[in-house]
Amino acid sequence: MTNVPNGVLDAYAHHRDGVPVHDVIWGPIASGKTHTVRQLLHKDYMTECGGDAVVESWVVDVNMSMPDVEDLVNRYATKLPAIRDLLSAALMVDLLTGCTLRTVTIDDAHHVLNDGECRFLARQIAKYGPRNGVKLRLVVPSLELWAFGGSAVLQAAVSEGNVIKAVRRG
Ligand SMILES: Nc1ncnc2c1ncn2[C@@H]1O[C@H](COP(=O)(O)OP(=O)(O)O)[C@@H](O)[C@H]1O
Ligand SMILES: [Mg+2]
Repeated sequence: MTNVPNGVLDAYAHHRDGVPVHDVIWGPIASGKTHTVRQLLHKDYMTECGGDAVVESWVVDVNMSMPDVEDLVNRYATKLPAIRDLLSAALMVDLLTGCTLRTVTIDDAHHVLNDGECRFLARQIAKYGPRNGVKLRLVVPSLELWAFGGSAVLQAAVSEGNVIKAVRRG
């Protein structure tokens, strides 16, 4: 059972024209968004980005939908203070040791983006991330403005990237 049309994940690319592009995974509750994110995190893990370096995965999991990935990813946060810390550190690319790409996944981002500080930080990542090798991966129930905490900047930034719709199947 797969939640996205055949080939979508095979065709998934972190970059477009050499520049990292953001992702948005969207669909209703239980459509398999988190399931799809796991597959993308696996792709992060399998992707080399020069030499032995790999993609660095940072994950915000406010509803603790995938606690098991904590040990598999480079950074993981579930509670608001730690989420703010993670997001504010995400653009500190000098800490990117030997890695040319960092993904910042926010599962159930509509909850996180209701927090003003998180929304501001996510917007900074959306704007300044790609030139610094940092990309945002937002997971939301809708592509409408409310799902991005009302931020048109975030809505536009991810809608121009990889738009992946999860559909419950099986
Ligand atoms: N392709 C799949 N194969 C097996 N189980 C799946 C698949 N997609 C979703 N599920 C299961 O269905 C339930 C809902 O999926 P989930 O990814 O949590 O949805 P969402 O994040 O959209 O709410 C979970 O229990 C998940 O394990
Ligand atoms: Mg989910």
